[in-house]
Amino acid sequence: MMPRISCKVVILVCLVFLLFLGIYSRSRTESELVHQSITKKGNADEITNVENNFSTTSGERQFIGLKHEKLESYPSRYYCNFPKPGEKAHIHEGEGYESDWNLKQVQVLIRHGDRSPLDFTLYRKQNLQPEFCNVFSDQASTSYAMLKDYRHSIMSDFNKAKLHPLSNVNLFAGPLPDSILCAPGQLSTLGVIQQLHSGFMMRDTYLSKLKLDENMNESVHVQSTHVRRTFQSALAFLYGLLPEYHLEKVPIQIVYNALFCGPSCSCPQAKELEASVKKDQYKVYVQRQKQNATVQKVASMLGIGDHTGSQIDAIVTGYLCKNIKLPCNTSGHCISNMDLDELMNEQEYMNSVTYSTSAARQHSLLTIYPLLDLILQRMQMATRKAHYAKKFFLYSAHDVTVRPMLVALGIPEYRWPRLASRLVFELWENKVGQHFIKILFNGVDVTRQVSFCTKDADKPFCTYAMFEEFVSSGIAKLLGFKSRAEACLNIST
Ligand SMILES: *[C@@H]1O[C@H](CO)[C@@H](O)[C@H](O)[C@H]1NC(C)=O
Ligand SMILES: *[C@@H]1O[C@H](CO)[C@@H](O)[C@H](O)[C@H]1NC(C)=O
Ligand SMILES: *[C@@H]1O[C@H](CO)[C@@H](O)[C@H](O)[C@H]1NC(C)=O
Ligand SMILES: *[C@@H]1O[C@H](CO)[C@@H](O)[C@H](O)[C@H]1NC(C)=O
Repeated sequence: MMPRISCKVVILVCLVFLLFLGIYSRSRTESELVHQSITKKGNADEITNVENNFSTTSGERQFIGLKHEKLESYPSRYYCNFPKPGEKAHIHEGEGYESDWNLKQVQVLIRHGDRSPLDFTLYRKQNLQPEFCNVFSDQASTSYAMLKDYRHSIMSDFNKAKLHPLSNVNLFAGPLPDSILCAPGQLSTLGVIQQLHSGFMMRDTYLSKLKLDENMNESVHVQSTHVRRTFQSALAFLYGLLPEYHLEKVPIQIVYNALFCGPSCSCPQAKELEASVKKDQYKVYVQRQKQNATVQKVASMLGIGDHTGSQIDAIVTGYLCKNIKLPCNTSGHCISNMDLDELMNEQEYMNSVTYSTSAARQHSLLTIYPLLDLILQRMQMATRKAHYAKKFFLYSAHDVTVRPMLVALGIPEYRWPRLASRLVFELWENKVGQHFIKILFNGVDVTRQVSFCTKDADKPFCTYAMFEEFVSSGIAKLLGFKSRAEACLNIST
């Protein structure tokens, strides 16, 4: 009797497992729109002391892309993006170039915060039950002061909203990550903390120092893609940004595409270009990763494939960012931090080769154009002083949004956009009504590295007119067509 029952159970478990794999295997690390399930509250968390337990490092590393991080020179820890108490002193948002400049508007594109890996193969192999997606855990509450207030305030708004069906709150998903066990791709407690931290730094800069607006509740506009981790990231960012933030104050508009492209999503030739970029990536994989001792060692020790993308997702996102002891094989040999840094470097190398080609640039220009156009239209309203022009826009999105934006703008940043990355567009006005823009990536001023701002190196500023020209005609010109729509149908690969 017994063996037959357990046999059925095993088959059932296998079926459920296969179903699970089927759902998640499509979404690899560079295409992140996975749906997430949520379970009940519990109390366990792996993240401890995020604020204080960071080691400042000696020895500056040479990045292929931007060289700027004073606080973190290990690429894998840089990617995790542990919030740092001294970080505010090192970021450059809100610094106008001239004393008569007035800040008119800010638009921020973020990648969601830290999440559980998309592929749980390694967790299953190592028999690990991930428990770091619950912001109610006792351990988490001591690590970052604002977290406790955040949970309390959001849950009390949430409960009130449920009692008052006429209230403005129309939530796409639960407001907080509160699962006992994580599912793949769920926002972690660290992810929440990162966004609270980013929002709070932006509050300090734009509200406290620059007084962007008296009534921020009215002048913030927020959009998030339709997954739980971006929605929850947007909420945490808002709570950090706005004093006395409450759920019903600021609606979050849900967008059903990672590129914010709406009716302009269809672009047949972009698919062809993407296939060509993938082919380049495959070549680098064969020439480099298949030959690289570290990549191969990690693959054979853990049996998780030999692509740096999936290895980074499994071990950097899965272990290092969660402060979980790095995995070991059965004979007790363990993955080291140095191994992870080499994986990150290999990934960066692949990106630097495959995202600097003209196919990659064209692909990015085509796919991110609708979002760039939206950003331009919103700036335009502010330059025309429309009374309804909003002052602060938040787009809560993914690496697959941030990456093409960086490539389209020509910013030479080839690292994987780190967790909770933020790309900021600032619009400034001088005393005589001229407008300027500044672009910052993770607190670093990259304005002069943007392709349309470098051409007049003698002009010290990037004007709004340059940005307008780039979006309204420059992109089509770069693509060699009259319009993006025409390029979408005709550009050849
Ligand atoms: C803090 O960092 C040190 C050095 O990396 C590590 O050994 C220790 O386990 C960490 N402590 C916590 C609480 O994460
Ligand atoms: C937003 O609204 C709340 C509640 O009405 C208020 O207390 C707060 O001062 C407002 N914040 C801003 C920045 O306007
Ligand atoms: C593997 O890649 C890393 C990072 O790019 C590099 O430092 C290392 O030398 C490579 N090893 C081999 C054997 O190719
Ligand atoms: C564990 O990893 C080490 C280092 O890569 C390797 O030499 C050893 O053979 C591995 N052990 C097993 C059981 O695979």
